[in-house]
Amino acid sequence: MNRTEATPLSPRSIGFNPSLLVENKSHGLGVFAAQSFVIGDRLTIFDSEFVEYPTRYTIQVDQRKHLVTEGNLGAFLNHSCDPNARFVAETLEMIAIKPIKKGEEVTFNYLSSEWDMAAPFACQCGADGCHKTIRGFQHLSQEHKMQLADLALPYLRRLIALEPWWMKDELSESEEGLCLDGKPVLQLAREHGTPLYLYAGKTIRRRLGELRAALQSTGAPYRMHYAIKANRFAPILALVRAEGDVGIDASSPREVALALESGFKPEEISVTCSMPSRKDFEKFAGFGVHLNLDTFSALRRWAATPGRNPRVGLRLDPGIALGYGDNPKLSYGNSKFGFSFAQAREAYAFARQQGLIVDTLHIHVGWGLQQKIAGLLGHVFTQVAELARDLPDLETINIGGGLCWKQASQDMPLAIGSWAELIQRHLAPLGLQIAIESGTFVVASSGLLVTEINTLEQRFQQPWIGVDCGHNVNVYAAHYSIPQEIIAVSQPTADVAAHYVVAGNINEANDIFSRSCALPSVVEGDFLAFFPAGAYGASMASDHCLKGLPKEWLI
Ligand SMILES: Cc1ncc(COP(=O)(O)O)c(C=O)c1O
Repeated sequence: MNRTEATPLSPRSIGFNPSLLVENKSHGLGVFAAQSFVIGDRLTIFDSEFVEYPTRYTIQVDQRKHLVTEGNLGAFLNHSCDPNARFVAETLEMIAIKPIKKGEEVTFNYLSSEWDMAAPFACQCGADGCHKTIRGFQHLSQEHKMQLADLALPYLRRLIALEPWWMKDELSESEEGLCLDGKPVLQLAREHGTPLYLYAGKTIRRRLGELRAALQSTGAPYRMHYAIKANRFAPILALVRAEGDVGIDASSPREVALALESGFKPEEISVTCSMPSRKDFEKFAGFGVHLNLDTFSALRRWAATPGRNPRVGLRLDPGIALGYGDNPKLSYGNSKFGFSFAQAREAYAFARQQGLIVDTLHIHVGWGLQQKIAGLLGHVFTQVAELARDLPDLETINIGGGLCWKQASQDMPLAIGSWAELIQRHLAPLGLQIAIESGTFVVASSGLLVTEINTLEQRFQQPWIGVDCGHNVNVYAAHYSIPQEIIAVSQPTADVAAHYVVAGNINEANDIFSRSCALPSVVEGDFLAFFPAGAYGASMASDHCLKGLPKEWLI
C-alpha cells in the first residue's frame, strides 16, 4: 500500500522530469531514477503550495502546514522504512541519502514528515525494522521516535523534545500553566469559578473544517449535521450556525426546539429518535422535520400522525460491535437501535404501504471508533451499499457520528482520512448524498473540565485527591468507564510525584474519576483539568444531590 495505489493518478498529468520517471512496476506506481544519483544530490524540488489539513497527497512541513503534491512527482513518491531520499522542509527538496542506481525506486519515510497521517496504511516495504502500520510520527513509541530523530523534520524534533500526547493545537503551556487556545486556564477558573467547562471556539471551527475537507475528498455530495446532544451550549450553537453549511442532528422535540431557536431551519434538522411517543410525534410533525425511524411501530404511528413529513429514513443496526473499548454501552451492534439488514427490505415495503417515502438509510455504528475497526466499518458500508441499490426512493445515506478524539495516550482513533476513504470506496459510487451527524469529533477536543482540589489525604496507602465535582458533572468514568487525561493546571508538564486516586464529591462509591492518576505534587486549592471534555460533559450533567450544574465558557 502506498499513496499511488490508493488512488492512481495518471503519470501523464505530472509533466516531464528527465531524471525521474513515474512507472508502474511490481507494486503499483512509483518514482524511479532515470539516472544514477550520489548522496546529497537534489532529486526534485516542489512548488510551495500549502494547505492546513493533511490529505493522502500532502507532505507535512510544520504544524498545520501541509505541502500539496497532487499533480506533481510528490504524489507518486512511495514510503519506505529504509528510504534512499529525505525531504527537506526548509527548501522543499527531496535529497538522496544513499547512492541511487538508474532504475531504482526513490522512496522517503512518511514517518519523517507526517505527525498524524490522513490515510494510514500497512507497510510492505520489507525493510529490517519496518514499522508495519504507518500512521504518523505521533503514534511511534518514544524509542522509535528517537531512532527517527535524525531523519525527522525540524517541527517533529521540536515536538518530541516536549510533550505529553494531549499537548497539541488546543492545549499549550505558558508561565501561568495550562492554556486553552492560548488563554491561561488558571485565570479563567478564578474568574468564572469551578466546576467549569471551557471550550475553544477556534478548535470547533478547525474540526468542522477537517470534516468538510474529508467529505469533499470523497467526491460525493454531502451534508454535515452537528449532533446537538454532544454540547448544546448556546454560544457553541451560534458558532456552528455561523458556519452556514452545518445542520443539526436532534433526538428529541426539545432539541429540535432549541435548534430552531438557534437559527437552524426545519429542513436543516435531522431527527433520529429512540422509542418516540405519540406526543413526540405530534411535536415533530408540528416542526416539519425529517425523521429517521427504527421500528415498525414508529413507522406505523408516524404515518398516522396528522401533518407528518411523509419522507423518512430507516435506521439500521450494524450487526457488529464497533464502539470504543469493546464497551457494549458504546457499541450499537444488535442493540436497541435500528432494523437489521435482514429486516430492512420488509421495513421499506411496510413504510411504503403506510404512505411514507423512504429517502434515507441511516446507520450510526457506535461511539469512539478506533483505527482497528476500519476494515469492519468497510464491511458495514458494503452491506449498506448493497441494500441501497435495491431501494429506489433513496436520496441520502446518513452514516451518523462515531469519529472521536483520543481519550488516553494508547488510543488510536479512526483517522478522518481512513473514514473518508471508506466513504469514497463503498458509498460514493451510489451517487447519493452522504449525511453525517458528528458530535464528539466536533467538540470533544475543544473542551476542558476544570475542577478544584479540596481534599488531599493519604488513604489505604495511596494519596487521594477529592475535587469539587462528581459524576453528575462528568459521567465518563462512572457511567462508561472511559478514561480522560487529568492535568495539573498550574504545572501541566511537571514530573510525576505520585499516582493518586481522584474522587468526586457525590455520595456514591463509584464516583471515582481515576484510581491511578499520575500527577506532580499538588496541594489543596490547586486546579485539575480533564481532557477531552467538550462532548457529552455539560450536556449530560445533572443536579444530582443538588450539587449544582457546572459553569460553561466559550473562548
Ligand atoms: C443517532 C446518533 N447520531 C449521531 C450521534 C453523535 O455521535 P458522536 O458523538 O459519536 O459523533 C449519536 C450519539 O449518540 C447518535 O446516537
